[in-house]
Amino acid sequence: MQKNFKRTLITTALPYANGPVHIGHLAGVYIPADIYARYLRSRGDEVVMIGGSDEHGVPITIKARKEGVTPQDIVDCYHAIIRDSMKELGISFDVYSRTTSELHRQTASEFFRRLYDNDQFEKQTSMQPYDEQAGQFLADRYVTGTCPHCGHDGAYGDQCEACGTSLNATDLINPRSSLTDAPVTMRETSHWYLPLNRWEDALRHWILDEHTEWKTNVAGQCKSWLDAGLQPRAVSRDLDWGVPVPVEGADGKVLYVWFDAPIGYISNTKEILPDSWEKWWKDPETRIINFIGKDNIVFHCIVFPAMLMAYGDGFQLPDNVPANEFLNLEGDKISTSRNWAVWLHEYLRDFPGKQDVLRYVLTATAPETKDNDFTWADFQARNNNELVAILGNFVNRAMMLTHKYFNGIVPEPGEFTEVDRQMFADVRSAIKSVSESIDTFHFREALRCAMDIARTGNKYLQETEPWKVAKTDMPRVATVLYCALQVCADIAVVFEPFLPFMAEDLSKMLHLESRDWEAAGSENLLPAGTTLEQPHLLFEKIDDAAIDAQLQRLQRIKEENKVNSFKAQPQAPDVDFDTFARSDLRVGTVLECEKVPKADRLLRFLIDDGLQKRTIVSGIAKYYKPEELIGKQVCFIANLPPRKLKGIISQGMILSAENADGSLVVIGPSAPVVPGAQVK
Ligand code: 2FM
Ligand code: ZN
Repeated sequence: MQKNFKRTLITTALPYANGPVHIGHLAGVYIPADIYARYLRSRGDEVVMIGGSDEHGVPITIKARKEGVTPQDIVDCYHAIIRDSMKELGISFDVYSRTTSELHRQTASEFFRRLYDNDQFEKQTSMQPYDEQAGQFLADRYVTGTCPHCGHDGAYGDQCEACGTSLNATDLINPRSSLTDAPVTMRETSHWYLPLNRWEDALRHWILDEHTEWKTNVAGQCKSWLDAGLQPRAVSRDLDWGVPVPVEGADGKVLYVWFDAPIGYISNTKEILPDSWEKWWKDPETRIINFIGKDNIVFHCIVFPAMLMAYGDGFQLPDNVPANEFLNLEGDKISTSRNWAVWLHEYLRDFPGKQDVLRYVLTATAPETKDNDFTWADFQARNNNELVAILGNFVNRAMMLTHKYFNGIVPEPGEFTEVDRQMFADVRSAIKSVSESIDTFHFREALRCAMDIARTGNKYLQETEPWKVAKTDMPRVATVLYCALQVCADIAVVFEPFLPFMAEDLSKMLHLESRDWEAAGSENLLPAGTTLEQPHLLFEKIDDAAIDAQLQRLQRIKEENKVNSFKAQPQAPDVDFDTFARSDLRVGTVLECEKVPKADRLLRFLIDDGLQKRTIVSGIAKYYKPEELIGKQVCFIANLPPRKLKGIISQGMILSAENADGSLVVIGPSAPVVPGAQVK
């Protein structure tokens, strides 16, 4: 429900500091949040945008153990990478802090303690998986074993990825620790649980009755959680990395990462606004918006609100949680562990100065209603055909013409004609659509409408043809260029939330003083008499070589992943020796080798087998150029019955080994032998 508000607190999901951020994080959370924050600021609203690294949780401890360093080393490294790369991309956090800060520890600790003191928890004792060798309890994810449903050997304690079944670690057959490979035992342990069931009715009313404007993907997930009935959820863990549970006798226990992380929004607000933070959380005239990805919905719409209600003391619930779906990369799910991602810090290195191109493409393809795909071909096309050809081109034409006819000074306009008035009307209507779309969190549509301003500008120049009119009517040229330059100024204002670097650059070229949103669309945003800088191109084409380099990198990763995930086939059933011995395996020397016409896969060999010249056809054309094989020695089976392939009689079969990626490598002797040598 829309209410009157004075200020907006924007939170962005705190990324785990166990890896850098990638395009999925950016498209899902940080770019939309940044557009929203910049837009509200340019409207003159009071805004605070909160960010920070989520530095607790089991995966960080596992990574540290694997790399032989401390969890603190891991988070120090990635916190810096994430913070610096987001800054370079222009994500305009008012604070980017971290959950290992002392202030956060105190805040989270105090939060827990108040709930504890007010009987907001239930203590429960249960049996949990334990690794005797590592001397620690194991999160379900770190228990592996055989799936009781499909027999898959590498099922995780929370899910079998082979058959998709959700599991508990106790369901697995032969459970082992993925830390040490030791067999898992069960040990009794006690934890504090937040009884979400106590808050079920309040949550249902708040989400489903009071916030009917929420995105359907968000409301849908909430409804299915609520309909399934809420259960108490453990908010502590047996772990030595995190905020210690501030209760007597809770040694070795820390707050569950999902308990402390959202409190990070509060700690980080305190960090920058130590005196006024409360008004940002407790004043009903503050509106709180949480930007997150879809995997965070339950924590932001159910768990954290229940925590805030349990805490009381005037803490407000979020007004909206515009969660996005996921972005895929070249058709495959983005995965940190498989390195299947475009990492922000690497993009910034590979495409220096092109922050806005990434911001543009990720907004234009944002997974707002369903999962979406990022491809490098689309990235290139959007840069070349949209940013360069539509936006950059319009601005350049308007400015060049002004330099040509008016020495780079915004000319005094004459009376506007119908075409001019229509152009202003079209621009104003596009700006209105941009505002309405941003107000309702439709950033893709907002960007499309913003591009309509540049399209309108191009169409206007096409229609008015000032370069032709210049031959006969300079006062009219003055009016046209004046109008076109107003559109350039509109672009500098309206694109600021989306493409802040371009907007800054353009504002400087235009000497545009202020970029107030409300002023955009007016007929005198850029006063006549303003001296323009000599224009330079706002965007440049991205060539095929840059794109090919990225595609090659992904191809290499795909191949590495295949090799890493390669599992040798189980051994075939035994054959007796006599059966094996009947195969006549020999070595021959390749005399000729050529492609078989009209058969992509086939090569025709002529082989000196010591007795005769023998023809063999083999399906390895995808992996070798024929000339590479001439003169080589290969192993082949000599006594297979002849077989006709594409009209050629093949007298035997050349042996090859199949690699992890399916490619074939021909087998031959490790040193030269006489043609016809038998393989024994
Ligand atoms: O999913 C994640 O990456 C979490 N680190 C998000 C935490 S959001 C908030 F609660 F801090
Ligand atoms: Zn299974």
